[in-house]
Amino acid sequence: MNSKPLHVACIMDGNGRWARKRGLPRTAGHTAGEESLADVVRVASKRDVAYLTVFGFSTENWVRPRAEVRHILGLHKKLFGRISELNENNVRVNWIGRPFDEPGSRTPLYVQRAIRKAIEDTRSNTGMVLTVAFDYGSRSELTRAAKHLVASSDDLTPANLQRHLYDASLPPVDVLVRTSGESRISNFLLWQIKAANIYFTERPWPDFDSVDLDAAIALAKN
Ligand code: IPE
Ligand code: IPE
Ligand code: MG
Repeated sequence: MNSKPLHVACIMDGNGRWARKRGLPRTAGHTAGEESLADVVRVASKRDVAYLTVFGFSTENWVRPRAEVRHILGLHKKLFGRISELNENNVRVNWIGRPFDEPGSRTPLYVQRAIRKAIEDTRSNTGMVLTVAFDYGSRSELTRAAKHLVASSDDLTPANLQRHLYDASLPPVDVLVRTSGESRISNFLLWQIKAANIYFTERPWPDFDSVDLDAAIALAKN
């Protein structure tokens, strides 16, 4: 057993199925998922998790029905607006995803502002770093990194490519969680999960709790 600070990454899946099982609209599942995330952030910040990186919205998710996308965007505003909770837990907010000025970026201004404000308002916190992947896709990240590296005069090496990732300071992932019975990676952190343990659980994300989190952490520490 070691007590190295960990990087836990979560593919928060199964909101839709959680809602369907209860006869609720998918949007209710996303609302419950955001609340579950707030709980997980609080618990993780009290464990030896140094980095928690969560998949909030993928580059592939824009094709979902417009009303669902709008609802998910609103929930990100809510999530990034939880400043006092984040500060109470000494959590620093971070974001990875397609840069807002990049062609193809569709992140509306109000979400951009919420992201910028959360980063700014939590920047002096010294505890866990919560990175939200929003409009994130690993292939976009790696393609952009490769483009930037080729444009520089540096050698094409893994260490040099790493420097051009969206956030080069993110350490390797120790454990990758995917909820709701799927065993796919879905274009998440392909570079960073090189040596990660993978924790699959049947539970949908809205039901993911401290017991699951501790089981995932234990897997990383084995
Ligand atoms: C994950 O839940 C949330 C996002 C992808 C934004 P889903 O919406 O994918 O839920 P399922 O997979 O349909 O149950
Ligand atoms: C992955 O879940 C993306 C997020 C959790 C934000 P999806 O539900 O979109 O992934 P697929 O479509 O099942 O691979
Ligand atoms: Mg899904």
